[in-house]
Order: sequence, then C-alpha cells, then structure tokens
Amino acid sequence: MLEKYRRATSESYKLWKRALQVYPGGVNHNLRTFGLHRIGLYPPFMERGEGSHIWDVDDNEYIDWWMTHFSLILGHNHQNVRNAIQARISDGLHLGALNRAQVEFAEKLQDAIPYLKKVRFSVTGSGALMYAVRLARAFTKKRLVAKARGGWHGGNDALLYHIKYPFSDEPIRNGVSFEFNDQQSLDSLLKRNAKDLAAIVIEPMLGAGGGLPPEPEFLPYLREETEARGIILIFDEIITGFRLCFGSAGKEVFGVEPDLITLGKIVAGGMPLGAYGGREDIMTLAEPGKTGGVWVGGGTFSSHPLSMVSGIATLETLHSLKREYKTLNQRGNRFRDHLNEKFEMKNHHILATGVGSIVFLHWLKKAIGDSPITPSKIGNAFDPTKQDLLQAALFEQGIFGYHGLGGISFAHTDKDIQMSQEALFRAISEVNTQHR
Ligand SMILES: Cc1ncc(COP(=O)(O)O)c(C=O)c1O
Repeated sequence: MLEKYRRATSESYKLWKRALQVYPGGVNHNLRTFGLHRIGLYPPFMERGEGSHIWDVDDNEYIDWWMTHFSLILGHNHQNVRNAIQARISDGLHLGALNRAQVEFAEKLQDAIPYLKKVRFSVTGSGALMYAVRLARAFTKKRLVAKARGGWHGGNDALLYHIKYPFSDEPIRNGVSFEFNDQQSLDSLLKRNAKDLAAIVIEPMLGAGGGLPPEPEFLPYLREETEARGIILIFDEIITGFRLCFGSAGKEVFGVEPDLITLGKIVAGGMPLGAYGGREDIMTLAEPGKTGGVWVGGGTFSSHPLSMVSGIATLETLHSLKREYKTLNQRGNRFRDHLNEKFEMKNHHILATGVGSIVFLHWLKKAIGDSPITPSKIGNAFDPTKQDLLQAALFEQGIFGYHGLGGISFAHTDKDIQMSQEALFRAISEVNTQHR
C-alpha cells in the first residue's frame, strides 16, 4: 500500500524533498504533513479543486473530505465566489482604508447572527480568538481563561495548551482546562477558579479534539454557570458557524447564546478571515480611544476587500441554500450511523464521530466505554499507528481527508459518499493486512 502511494506521487515527493530544505519539517502548518512523516511518507501536494474533488501535482484525483480545513462548504471553485473575487480584483487589491464591502459583509453576518451586536475582522481565526480573549480580560479585569481539553483555537499564545491527549492537569500561566462533556470536571474547575476566570472558550462541537457533539445538557449548564459568575462565555464557531445551519450552531442548533463568538473558515469562502464579536458592552472596549478599552485588531490586511467580497458571495449563496442544511446534516448523520453499524458488524475497532456534515474516524485499540464520549476516553483508547496507516491508505484510495475523513459540502454527491465508503473499507482492509 505504501509502495503504491509512493509510485503514484513521484512529483509530490520531489516537491517534498525541496520543501524540507526551506521549511522546518517541510510545512507551514504542522497539520499538513497529515501525520504521514510518522510512517516514513510525505503528503500529496495539491494543484486544483473543483466541487467536491481535488487533484494533486501527479494528477491523482481525490474525493475531498478535508475541504480546505472545513472551509469550503460550497465546494471548490464555486462560481459565485470566484466571480465576486474576479470582479473586485481589477480595482486594486487592498487600499489600506475602509471599504464598502466590509460594511455589507458585517451587516450580513449580523442578519444571520442577531446576537452579534458588534463585530471585528482579523486575518485568521487564531487572531480572532486572541482578540476575543483580550476583550474578555479587559471587560472582567481578570487574567485567567479556561478552555475545553482538546480544543484547537489556532496558534495564539492565549489558548495554545492542553490540546493533545494525555492532557496535563497542570495549569499553565493564565490558563486552565476542563474535560468536554464532563460536568464534574467543569464543576471542579469552577470550584477552584471561578473567581479568577475572565472567560471560558469552547467549540460547541469539539472539532480537532475529536469531532464530539455536546451532550444535550452540557452547553446550557455551562451557560448558566458562567452567567451566574460573570465569566464571559466565548463560542469558537470557526468550524461550526454556518456549518450546521445558516448562522451560529451554538444558538440555533444547541440552544445556547454565548457572550462572544468567533468565526472564520466558511464565512469567507476560502479567503483568509477571522471574525469576533457579540455583546455590545464588551465589544465597545475595542473603540479607538475608549476609556478602559483595549487594543484589538490592527492587522494591515484586516477586512481585505477580497475576503470581504468572497464572504458576501458565500453568505448570499448559503442564504439561498438555508433550507438545504437540513438535508446536508441528515446525509452526514446517516453516513456516520451507517459506518458505525458496519464497523460493529465487521468487528473493526473504529468509531465515527461528528455532527451533521462532519465525520471523524478514530481507530481504537479498545472500546471506549459508556457515553458521554470525551476527548480523554478517545485518547486513552486511540491507536495512533493504525490511524496513520489509515490516513495513507485513504490517500492511496483517492480520499483526501483528515481526522479520518472530515466533512461533506453542498457539492458532494451521493456517488461521492458511496465511493468514499467503498474506498474506506478497502483502506481498512489494507491497514489490517499490513499491520495486525
Ligand atoms: C475551532 C477553531 N478555532 C480556531 C482555528 C484557527 O483558525 P485559523 O487557522 O484561521 O487561524 C481553527 C483552525 O483550524 C479552528 O478549527
């Protein structure tokens, strides 16, 4: 299997060797090795994408489940987004001043998320989280933040801890954590730290930490407890925003309104963007010259016109597909359930997690026990070698994904899903043959 992959990706290999000479580890984003370096392989270099498919530099075609880190819910190269960017590009790229599109884009976000009373744009999701935490600290005049273990909130210093299992119990400077979906863990954190906490940051569905939906009572409980104690609740919806519904999944799907929300990925249709906003009394601290305010933003490329027009085109298109989210979610839910049934039937120790269009796969050494599923339970049972081999086998079978698979978009067809399933089971038997 590994040999077949090597033979099919000779051009990628040449580029990989050059990349290793210029970048530490060959990459600009650690995740983009897709773990293949751990089994002596290299990742494919991608050339172009169209709809739900993507092609590498050796012209291998893949069904794309990664979809640019979950960003492209409309599919690659969507004509509305492309046309908007092309129409804008001849006026100059970025004029270093306010632009018309930034007003329109923010208005559209506000229409979709009514609790977004004020918003600001950064260039990345990492920046959005950094600024949201800074605002919460300024508002509460406290330093400590808490996050759910396994939560990935980008590369900013404020939240770059307790990401990978085994999670340390040690607090880091100004940072503590609790177990996602575990009320007891949350209670004990609050008991120890509530009076010092500025904010709790959480993804309504834990993304990179496992693709775990919240237990029904978990987010409402978190909301009650944070509200009672004056702790700012920040929903990081950089994956879930406009993924599970047209707007905030925390509010519309899980019934909980945070104080602040961060957005990114989907909302700018594949262009660089982060957004953070919410309560007026908190966001007002960002106003220039505000007494008691705090400096947030300031990026040269913030509200870049190309991101703004791409965002407008994306939101308009998604708005027209508003009713289709239900179908998209159902397709994902059905596929995940079906996979779990088949895994059990065939005695594969693999678990599919996710919600709606998101499908993660975890190759496990043993059963994880009773629900709720937590990142620690998955981490404790996880088989990293089999997972890495599965990753290589899936690439070799023409499936481009990560965390097992990733997510489907509006561009994915039933045929894509059926072919992915067939390829997945071929990949699993390759792995089992290779590594017993
Ligand atoms: C939930 C979540 N928050 C924040 C980020 C960081 O966003 P960016 O990569 O745009 O900096 C990511 C990126 O993967 C993410 O998944």
